[in-house]
Amino acid sequence: MAAKPSCAEISVLVAASETAGNDSQLTGERSIPGFASFGEFRAWPGYCFTVEGTVHVHSSLRGQGVGTALLQELAPRARSMGKHVPVAGVDAGNDSSLGFLESFGFERVARLREAGYKFDRFPDLVFLLFWLTPPTRP
Ligand SMILES: CC(C)(COP(=O)(O)OP(=O)(O)OC[C@H]1O[C@@H](n2cnc3c(N)ncnc32)[C@H](O)[C@@H]1OP(=O)(O)O)[C@@H](O)C(=O)NCCC(=O)NCCS
Repeated sequence: MAAKPSCAEISVLVAASETAGNDSQLTGERSIPGFASFGEFRAWPGYCFTVEGTVHVHSSLRGQGVGTALLQELAPRARSMGKHVPVAGVDAGNDSSLGFLESFGFERVARLREAGYKFDRFPDLVFLLFWLTPPTRP
């Protein structure tokens, strides 16, 4: 069995502007092209091998590979911390994020009806998983 990883570690990665492609769009308060982070999925020891993460890219820089570059850096960090599966939770209507995560290799595994709350409505929440280490069962 794998060694149990630390449960509460959090990792945050911020894209440096030179990776963003078009620096001229990034000035002052808009000088961060994007960030990605992960932290604990649930605050109990039984979920120590799982993390929940997010990625956000500045609206003027989407579609240029920034999000992919962030996940490509973050995934090995989570693996080296002993993590098994990152989970992403996405509003079921957020086609761009679903397309992005699936293009990276995340799989849709569950849809929680009306589990979200945003702008005075209850959107469905889609959970996706990515395998940092191979599944232990078929
Ligand atoms: C989702 C998000 C992080 C994607 O970042 P990005 O830097 O634009 O993505 P990339 O340029 O690396 O795209 C990689 C792939 O993702 C997919 N993708 C990206 N944007 C997409 C869109 N709008 N619709 C469908 N697929 C998309 C494509 O397959 C793309 O590959 P391609 O460029 O070869 O077609 C960005 O749109 C964002 O910050 N959205 C708002 C925040 C959010 O919803 N975050 C997700 C929560 S986990």
